[in-house]
Amino acid sequence: MSKRIFSGIQPTGIIHLGNYFGAIYNWLELQKEYDSIFSIVDLHALTVHQDPKKLNRNIYDLAKIYIASGLDPKKNIVFRQSDVKEHVELGWFLNCVTPIAELERMTQYKDKSEQHKQNVNSGLFTYPCLMAADILLYDTNVVPVGEDQLQHVELARTIAKKFNNLYGDVFILPEGKINKVSARLKGLDNPEKKMSKSATSENNYIALSDDSDLIRKKIKKAVTDSGTDIKFDPNKRPALANLMTIYHLVTGKEAPEIEKEFKGKGYGDFKSELAERVVEFVEPIQKKFNSISDKEIDSILADGAQRAKKLAEKKMEQVRKVIGL
Ligand code: TYM
Repeated sequence: MSKRIFSGIQPTGIIHLGNYFGAIYNWLELQKEYDSIFSIVDLHALTVHQDPKKLNRNIYDLAKIYIASGLDPKKNIVFRQSDVKEHVELGWFLNCVTPIAELERMTQYKDKSEQHKQNVNSGLFTYPCLMAADILLYDTNVVPVGEDQLQHVELARTIAKKFNNLYGDVFILPEGKINKVSARLKGLDNPEKKMSKSATSENNYIALSDDSDLIRKKIKKAVTDSGTDIKFDPNKRPALANLMTIYHLVTGKEAPEIEKEFKGKGYGDFKSELAERVVEFVEPIQKKFNSISDKEIDSILADGAQRAKKLAEKKMEQVRKVIGL
């Protein structure tokens, strides 16, 4: 039996290059070798208030991005989290074995509760238990994510161990997997912080849905470090290193080759070239995205839900039994 991967993205509107290269880009390779499940984790998105109409649209659009990027919904399971109610049920059971102290350690919780001071809800706090349920429900071996989610995957592993100690060998212990190059793309406006959907300025990120002119404008505005030549030095010149990483990801060229290409040239030349390469990279995805209808997505998600449910129901029978329900 081939090993299984599970991963997901929240349908919160913007899918940026960090999400693409930190997650989807790696899934494209992994789907060839693993039994793969990719979810649109809509329940997770509710930890921040979502406009109902927009949420519904964002779910369809994220599914379209999955398909337009090249995820195969026939070979893999592509589904919406809320279509499989077992996630919530297992999430509750896991809540009941997870120490509060473990949840309090989560960096994302600390950051988000700082950011959304007016809505620090308990869903935001117990979110890693729901994420653990997503992973453990499907006997997942490997969870490919960006760096910011590794801590949650490690907690899922801790929770699985805790549960197994109490009830026997029920869950496989999952491992996180990152792509070192793209695990943490930084904000274009601040290379100290990750590229983020919830950034205050939209100049922080390039969204897959940005049109060519907006991409050019954002890259032109991207902050750079002191110095003028094109040299890859993440410690001394983190802003340029981040842009060079993006250049590498969209062209496949390694840093020495990029340095050679821009020898004698400055930031301006590099940025204009980078903008064109990014535009060229996202255009085919956008074209494909626009060619997919909502009806096609309905049918992909219905099929995915049915297949995911089959696995989830079987696992939950086992879980309820060991718990004594
Ligand atoms: P989310 O929706 O915030 O992000 C989706 C994926 O994008 C990665 N990512 C990045 N990678 C590189 N550079 C960045 N700047 C960057 N920003 C985001 C994230 O690490 C993630 O892989 N809790 C998860 C969703 C989730 C999940 C799961 C993932 C729910 N259940 C089960 C895996 C398994 C989240 O909020 O990701």
